Amino acid sequence: MQPAGPLEGKTILVTGAAGQGMGRGIVEALEACGAAVVGMDVSAAAAEELRAAHPQLLSLVGDVSVEADVERVFDEAAALAGPIHGVVNNAGIGLNRPFHEVTAAEFERIHGVDVRGTWLVSRAFASRAIAAGRAGAIVNISSVHGTATAPGYAVYAGAKAAVDGMTRGIAVDLGPHRIRCNAVAPGYVHAAQNVELIRGFTDDPEGWIDTHTDDFQLLNHVVEARDCGDTVAFLLSDAARSITGQTLLVDAGLTTALYNNSFTRRTR
Ligand SMILES: NC(=O)c1ccc[n+]([C@@H]2O[C@H](COP(=O)([O-])OP(=O)(O)OC[C@H]3O[C@@H](n4cnc5c(N)ncnc54)[C@H](O)[C@@H]3O)[C@@H](O)[C@H]2O)c1
Repeated sequence: MQPAGPLEGKTILVTGAAGQGMGRGIVEALEACGAAVVGMDVSAAAAEELRAAHPQLLSLVGDVSVEADVERVFDEAAALAGPIHGVVNNAGIGLNRPFHEVTAAEFERIHGVDVRGTWLVSRAFASRAIAAGRAGAIVNISSVHGTATAPGYAVYAGAKAAVDGMTRGIAVDLGPHRIRCNAVAPGYVHAAQNVELIRGFTDDPEGWIDTHTDDFQLLNHVVEARDCGDTVAFLLSDAARSITGQTLLVDAGLTTALYNNSFTRRTR
């Protein structure tokens, strides 16, 4: 008989679950740990694809930045899947544009999804868990940009720094209710769509990824979505029962080193 997985018996709601990048890695990792997953995604077509790929998963459609959608999805999830034990705030959008060229609509869209969405979903989860006297865990997907950033990412960096701050605040407010809250902050995560994004600022995306991996990370491998998913699963599990309010960087050392590797080699 297989030993019980660390998330056996737990139902976890994952926003942006139908995404081709992180969503996929998070869903795979949670299912591998025995969790029942409820997906929430704004794209009905992507939610349908997720349902087809994971028939055992409940895939619901809703926009995390819209209060009524979030409340409806939580009510549907409770009716169809029973109590929710944890949430992963993965839905997020990025933007690479110098901050003085960003429009007010773009600013509001990023903060609406990345910050307001994280707050609305966490609030919907926590209020129900507290009312039921249920312990739980929240994992917010932040980014290395919450810690250090690069040209064109000021608005995204501000949103992810807000996610890190809110992670600490949620941990403080919900600790007495036995609800933990942590964040996972990925660096560059390999996905076909990201290669296309990189093509927006260089003609050689493969070369950019090689240099990023070889020269700027301390570990010489490309970070995969599943690496982040496994960290999310750990933070949701009882193995992390004493961890709350933390942002865990899953970036192969990108933000730890003061100097890039080629510069460090010159000083040996
Ligand atoms: N991919 C990376 O390299 C990377 C690095 C650091 C952080 N992140 C973070 O990881 C998360 C996922 O990123 P990704 O690259 O996998 O993106 P993705 O675009 O592949 O997936 C995001 C999913 O979220 C859904 N979504 C978007 N807006 C939504 C909304 N308002 N309500 C509900 N669902 C919505 C999309 O439909 C999509 O399915 C984001 O928070 C992002 O900031 C990604």
